[in-house]
Amino acid sequence: MKIKVFAPAIVAVLMLPLGLTAQAPSLSIQVDHPTAKVGPMLYGLMTEEINYSYDGGVYAELVRDRVPGRGFGGLTRWQMVAPGSSFAHISLDEATGPSKELPRSIKVEVTAATDAAPAGVENEGYWGIPVRPNSTYSGSFWAKTSIDGVPLTVSLVNDITGVTAAKATVTGLSGEWKEYSYTLKTGAVPVTVNNHLLLTIPKPATVWFDLVSLFPPTYKNRVHGNRVDIMEKLAAMDPKFLRLPGGNYLEGQTIPDRFDWKKTIGPWEDRPTHNSPWRYRSSDGMGLLEFLEWCEDLKMEPVLAVYAGYSLAQQHVDPGPALEPYVQDALDEIEYVTGGADTKWGAERIKNGHPAPFPLHYVEVGNEDEFDRSGSYDGRYTQFYRAIKQKYPNLEIIATAPIKSIKPDVLDEHFYMSAEKSYSDTHHYDTYDRSGPKIFVGEWATREGDPTPNLQAALADAAWLTGLERNSDLVIMSCYAPLFVNVNPGGMQWSTDLIGYNALSSYGSPSYYAQVMFGTHLGTEVVASTLSNAGERVYSSVTRDDKAHKLIIKVVNGTSNAKPLSINIDGAKVKPQGKLITISGKTPNATNSITEPKAIVPVEHPVTVAGSKFQQTFAPYSVNVLELSY
Ligand code: AHR
Repeated sequence: MKIKVFAPAIVAVLMLPLGLTAQAPSLSIQVDHPTAKVGPMLYGLMTEEINYSYDGGVYAELVRDRVPGRGFGGLTRWQMVAPGSSFAHISLDEATGPSKELPRSIKVEVTAATDAAPAGVENEGYWGIPVRPNSTYSGSFWAKTSIDGVPLTVSLVNDITGVTAAKATVTGLSGEWKEYSYTLKTGAVPVTVNNHLLLTIPKPATVWFDLVSLFPPTYKNRVHGNRVDIMEKLAAMDPKFLRLPGGNYLEGQTIPDRFDWKKTIGPWEDRPTHNSPWRYRSSDGMGLLEFLEWCEDLKMEPVLAVYAGYSLAQQHVDPGPALEPYVQDALDEIEYVTGGADTKWGAERIKNGHPAPFPLHYVEVGNEDEFDRSGSYDGRYTQFYRAIKQKYPNLEIIATAPIKSIKPDVLDEHFYMSAEKSYSDTHHYDTYDRSGPKIFVGEWATREGDPTPNLQAALADAAWLTGLERNSDLVIMSCYAPLFVNVNPGGMQWSTDLIGYNALSSYGSPSYYAQVMFGTHLGTEVVASTLSNAGERVYSSVTRDDKAHKLIIKVVNGTSNAKPLSINIDGAKVKPQGKLITISGKTPNATNSITEPKAIVPVEHPVTVAGSKFQQTFAPYSVNVLELSY
């Protein structure tokens, strides 16, 4: 991410030495008095299939409902194409498919077609298929045909102009189900989003299709990998972990609809796909290994949530023998993530293409189990805890609801708040019992703004985060939720999401930029600081990095007035040259959007401070990071 840098002269006027009075708003900092160690994993990401987060989101697949007909989409994303005098009919064939797991297919019956008027089927993509100039797209599909050798043309075509941006011919189709691959290369075409993928034949025949796929270039060129623009936004946050795979998505509406990880690995034809609780079906292209590779690409650790025997429709599995298969599944999953070639599931991961094990320190048992009205979570957690600890004593086991039978290592707490609540709750953890479990804030957000949070939300988020930072002896990890939203009509199931996108571009909300600022400017220890006489809606936290000799002062000004603060630094000699990074706006409703993605972005100013006591003015409605060296 680029941060604008302003000339020093602009801010030098703000750096006046000050004669302090008792009532002046001030921030006193004792650099040589650390109060808590900041956990190395304080800021991370939370993810699940919601708001078209993977399909139609970070997972770069461009074909919508590539497994047709099963679940909610039916054939609605697939249209018959028969120009001029050609004729075709498409239907869902329940009797044939490429594998046991995918027993259905799209049947395209072409009864009249010529070279000049080929017929077939088209896919609309996720609110369009983006086309860019001089790009290579990699595609594949499974097919069989009634007539051996019928040539198939695959093209990327503009919905409005009918202009073809790229095309390829695939030969060798036969009466046996087989996978074919193709490449589409664009030339000097304009950037457009209103395109579709077209599959046609030039003569009468019947062709069955499944797993029709098309990928643009991906982040780090991963085969079947992630969208570059969205991954770059995540990389700019410098996240330390990814909580996966949910959220409600882990639990499913019913037990069969849980995230059944063994059905999400290996070749696509072995993945049956499943219903997401967020009202659409998941392709499971983003399977367990893809989640782990996503972690690897951003140098994050997985925080692995395992299904714990509770699904949203109040279905649960009793602790005891009935729960054993689920516990075993979790042990197998941990082995898939961390095991070597000499283990069953480690070997499976290697077979799936990833020889090296992944780092893993945290396993979460379930999600939001306080909603399980059967009261079974205490017993379920304890059973998972004992089994996991026995095999993996070094793993930390996260509980998602309070437990009485044993002390969990870590407790996951969730907060969805109004701005008012976030502001008033910045001291939430100040008085928490330090002898209880450590805290993981596994989902939280100030929910103001739609589809993405506005500046008001970002200010309240940042205020609330100052409270987490000050308590980071207790709060060891945190992640905002939800992370993503596809902003097209029908794309959002949950409002106020950190990053928005359509098929072509993405943008960060003001809250996203607040997270970037907090995540990328964090010391290793909290130091003692006192904010005095600052009035309402002004918040701060101060950390130091004693190796890098950096002092990081965060100040949130949630008011409509500029806020001058006398800053008094004791216990270290600060150097005059520093920097101030700010996001601010004229009104709390100011925001970013897909059409105006950069209305609110961080701006960086060099600053010169006059010794250890100076005055700094913070802009109205602003989140600030003042970084000094000592
Ligand atoms: O973040 C949206 C949902 O909120 C999550 O799926 C769930 O865990 C929580 O209730």
